[in-house]
Amino acid sequence: MEAARELLVCPACEGALAADWSCSACGACYEAPDGIPNLLLGPNLQSGPNLQHGNDARVDAVRRFYQNAPFPGYPPRDSLTWLRARAERSEFARMLDHAIPGDAKILEIGCGTGQMSLYLARANRVVIGADLTRGSLLLGAVAARRFGLDRVQFVETDLHRPGLRATCATGRDDRAWALQRIRAHPAPPTPLGRPVVGVPMDTVRSGVARSEKRASTA
Ligand SMILES: C[S@@+](CC[C@H](N)C(=O)[O-])C[C@H]1O[C@@H](n2cnc3c(N)ncnc32)[C@H](O)[C@@H]1O
Ligand SMILES: [Zn+2]
Repeated sequence: MEAARELLVCPACEGALAADWSCSACGACYEAPDGIPNLLLGPNLQSGPNLQHGNDARVDAVRRFYQNAPFPGYPPRDSLTWLRARAERSEFARMLDHAIPGDAKILEIGCGTGQMSLYLARANRVVIGADLTRGSLLLGAVAARRFGLDRVQFVETDLHRPGLRATCATGRDDRAWALQRIRAHPAPPTPLGRPVVGVPMDTVRSGVARSEKRASTA
């Protein structure tokens, strides 16, 4: 999908990627088994400016963990209706869906098996689901095909050295800033819009519990 490819770049040099996932600037060629480009950099390749990365062992440990146990899974008789109903049990998901315009380009970082990416892939939105773990991404990509969602592109990439256009995450040419904001939410608006920043599930749950308590005592 061209609209999605335009949001991705070569993780080595940030050049544009052609339809065959080769880099038009440095010539690197990326594989895309099952339609999921592998934009992970090898350990000896240089990362882009201001993306110093001393965490390779930790990142590998995280990848191994999720590769062995991708979650959440998809049950045997799932459907798009099931996925939407399940997602809408969460106030957080409903609020996101209401807040994001129908023609938005969405990047979900750490999308896992992609259930939020698929849920948000309504109207004319283009969704990139980015994650380290191919096993999880594959479950998401297979579900997207099953549900007839063709505006979602899953991509295997490490947020520390991402194959993502710099302005994709933040509207600013500064992905270190994006990493920082992901650790310290909420994110402020940027010239291109308001980044939606994932937060630890415990925070979401306690936030929802607080708002439900407020509603019941009002
Ligand atoms: C707890 S799971 C959440 C999955 C999904 N967002 C959800 O809520 O169901 C965290 C995900 O973050 C991914 N992840 C962790 N570190 C990452 C990194 N450096 N770059 C990209 N993805 C990463 C993991 O592979 C895993 O799929
Ligand atoms: Zn390149």
